[in-house]
Amino acid sequence: MDSRFPFSSVLLVGILAKVASGIVGASVGSDGVSDIFGNHFGQPGVNATYDYIVVGGGNAGNTIAVRLALDPANYSVAVIEAGNFYEILNGNRTQVPGYNYIGALSSFVGDEPASLTAFGLKTEPQAGYNGREIIYVAGQSFGGGRKVACMYFLANQTRPSAGSHDHWADFVGDDFWTWDNVYPYYKKSVTFIPPDYTKIDPSINITWDSTSIGPEEGPLHISYGNFQGHFGSHLGASLDKLGFEKLAGINSGKMIGYGTVTSTVDPRTATRDSSETSFLQLAARNSNIQIYPNTLAKKILFDADKKATGVLVQGNFATAQFEYKLKAAKEVIVSAGVWHSPQLLMVSGVGPACTLKAHGIDVVSDLPGVGQNERDQPFMALTYKVSVTTNTQMVAGNPKVNAEAVAEYLDHQSGRLSGIGAGQAVAFEKIPAPYRNKYSNSTLQYLSAFPEDWPEVEYLPLESSGFPADIGPDDNYLLIGAAMLSPKSIGNMTIASADVLDPPVISPNWLLDPADLEQIIAAVHRIREIAFNSSIVEEEYLPGPDVTTDAEIAAWLKENMSLIYHGGSTCRMGPKSDPDSVVDTRARVRGVKGLRVVDASAFPFVPPGQPMSVVYMFAERIADAILNDL
Ligand SMILES: Cc1cc2nc3c(=O)[nH]c(=O)nc-3n(C[C@H](O)[C@H](O)[C@H](O)COP(=O)(O)OP(=O)(O)OC[C@H]3O[C@@H](n4cnc5c(N)ncnc54)[C@H](O)[C@@H]3O)c2cc1C
Ligand SMILES: *[C@@H]1O[C@H](CO)[C@@H](O)[C@H](O)[C@H]1NC(C)=O
Ligand SMILES: *[C@@H]1O[C@H](CO)[C@@H](O)[C@H](O)[C@H]1NC(C)=O
Ligand SMILES: *[C@@H]1O[C@H](CO)[C@@H](O)[C@H](O)[C@H]1NC(C)=O
Ligand SMILES: *[C@@H]1O[C@H](CO)[C@@H](O)[C@H](O)[C@H]1NC(C)=O
Ligand SMILES: *[C@@H]1O[C@H](CO)[C@@H](O)[C@H](O)[C@H]1NC(C)=O
Ligand SMILES: *[C@@H]1O[C@H](CO)[C@@H](O)[C@H](O)[C@H]1NC(C)=O
Ligand SMILES: *[C@@H]1O[C@H](CO)[C@@H](O)[C@H](O)[C@H]1NC(C)=O
Ligand SMILES: *[C@@H]1O[C@H](CO)[C@@H](O)[C@H](O)[C@H]1NC(C)=O
Ligand SMILES: *[C@@H]1O[C@H](CO)[C@@H](O)[C@H](O)[C@H]1NC(C)=O
Repeated sequence: MDSRFPFSSVLLVGILAKVASGIVGASVGSDGVSDIFGNHFGQPGVNATYDYIVVGGGNAGNTIAVRLALDPANYSVAVIEAGNFYEILNGNRTQVPGYNYIGALSSFVGDEPASLTAFGLKTEPQAGYNGREIIYVAGQSFGGGRKVACMYFLANQTRPSAGSHDHWADFVGDDFWTWDNVYPYYKKSVTFIPPDYTKIDPSINITWDSTSIGPEEGPLHISYGNFQGHFGSHLGASLDKLGFEKLAGINSGKMIGYGTVTSTVDPRTATRDSSETSFLQLAARNSNIQIYPNTLAKKILFDADKKATGVLVQGNFATAQFEYKLKAAKEVIVSAGVWHSPQLLMVSGVGPACTLKAHGIDVVSDLPGVGQNERDQPFMALTYKVSVTTNTQMVAGNPKVNAEAVAEYLDHQSGRLSGIGAGQAVAFEKIPAPYRNKYSNSTLQYLSAFPEDWPEVEYLPLESSGFPADIGPDDNYLLIGAAMLSPKSIGNMTIASADVLDPPVISPNWLLDPADLEQIIAAVHRIREIAFNSSIVEEEYLPGPDVTTDAEIAAWLKENMSLIYHGGSTCRMGPKSDPDSVVDTRARVRGVKGLRVVDASAFPFVPPGQPMSVVYMFAERIADAILNDL
């Protein structure tokens, strides 16, 4: 084995289908073909040429790289990723779905910007959040979007509303992005596995819209996990009472209402599925793709004709720090995520000319929109003491509960550890009267520009939550959060220097516009209505009965509101007439050749709901545009 990388046997089994035992090394299969584990990895320090170089092995990067690599044209494709495999970096924590909630017990490491394990970016002081500086996790591992040392899972998924996609098409002036034209690409990445009622409580009647599935079967498995919790029907009854429409899933273009959300869990093994376990490993088995872990892209290289010719990279960047070049015969595709894609463009000479000049960077393409127009989904949550069992005892470290959960998981792939423990009664709405009646005219006018089917708030029940220090062995708490889906505040980023190792300067500007405070105060009132109309809520733990007037709620929010990591649009797609447009409708960077941005940063705006499905769709759509010249 190549001693530079301590690969786990789990990864080996995934990558080498023919391996009989879990030994890292070489293998001979039944048909006599030997495969060498290291064959799938680029040689650090060796200058090499590929047809396509993809920077960033996150959701978008892995998806597009793999579609290009699997094409019958046999293109050579390299994926450059600053991080490594999360199975290696993080033990079983990111593989076992239920460990989503145990992070509170683990120590936090990797908050340092550009450490080996995660980009733990810290925002500028946020005026809308009383000047707080917030850690904005940016995943740094194959699979992207998650901090490898902590509790979160990139797991639940919804698809946006049909009208929000038509809005996208209108905004960019191209029918390429209408709902009808993208819906097949949402389906393309995934294989849906229906609930197995020998594992999920059969009294939980999960419905889904079968038209949202197939006909192709993509590499990524989505399911309802094997655990759904006990709160769903109770909150559902409350939502029914409040007039929410019950939807058959939130994957077919309709969002306003409530339903059960799918998650990226493969229920057969009850492990988390990601763009690494699905797409990347598929290509490693079936193509010549070359994977570069622990490799940082430092600069995109251009020739005199402004064509992107390759990438200057730094190998094993936490330790050795040697640089070399990877050349792209066809294209460089930047998929480094919401904060790092604009950073890489800027240090390479693509961005606002005055900023670049201030850092001594030669301007290749003056694009003032790079780093601007960041769209996000500010998030907050209220906590309730409830009369049904939630994950509280597991999170609190109750040894009996934990031992039972591990045993049930290992023996039957079911129980609390086998799902993300939530997903039922996820609701979407436009804020109704009487709360809407309190909005200022300017807020009403702002909101009136959104499509009719674009919800303003997403309500997310979550099994994990805070609890008091004097918690008893039978106490249970439930969190009900709200993500704002139509905030008016717009964020931004810029570079601190010409070196990517200096973290980008980021400012999501949450709640900066007064319209957003009006909206989120209304959402607090609505969460309380949902909670107290249900039969399971005993009392509100946070913020509690002392926080009731709008002024008290506003003060609490400014101190306690947080984030949900759903940022995008820092390299936004737009028509030529849009001075802030960074990429055209095929994700090609304006003013240069052979360079695309394919990730959440290239969305014209962040559509309503969980963005992960949009990221996969986007990569699928652009891969098809490249391969079939659409
Ligand atoms: C903690 C957390 C939980 C989330 N949970 C959910 C969820 O449940 N559902 C959902 O829909 N969305 C969720 N999201 C949002 C979702 O993860 C993102 O929208 C999505 O991952 C964006 O995909 P991307 O390809 O644009 O970027 P990313 O997935 O962030 O990938 C970017 C990759 O580029 C790499 N990179 C960056 N700079 C460089 C460089 N210079 N050189 C080499 N590599 C580089 C990074 O290491 C990273 O792996 C979550 C996000 C976070 C952070
Ligand atoms: C694909 O290209 C690689 C070189 O990049 C070559 O080794 C391999 O044989 C090719 N495979 C096919 C099926 O043409
Ligand atoms: C499940 O829900 C559907 C739709 O609401 C309903 O038609 C069906 O009868 C329910 N099944 C059970 C077993 O409750
Ligand atoms: C690789 O590229 C680097 C940077 O251009 C150069 O200094 C080095 O000589 C090259 N190495 C080889 C082996 O060609
Ligand atoms: C995860 O790994 C830890 C440490 O090896 C172990 O204690 C725990 O039981 C594992 N969990 C499961 C579900 O296998
Ligand atoms: C979905 O994922 C987000 C993180 O993006 C998390 O905050 C949220 O609570 C999750 N919702 C459910 C229902 O699991
Ligand atoms: C808001 O708009 C309504 C109707 O358009 C109008 O009657 C009212 O005076 C406006 N209020 C303010 C404060 O401008
Ligand atoms: C980002 O937004 C803040 C708040 O509006 C502003 O003060 C700052 O100058 C902006 N930064 C950039 C780089 O645009
Ligand atoms: C239940 O919801 C209604 C709105 O339909 C609201 O008026 C009422 O206050 C809620 N009940 C409680 C106990 O919060
Ligand atoms: C909320 O803010 C208050 C300060 O107003 C702080 O004391 C408290 O710890 C915060 N609560 C949470 C859950 O962050």
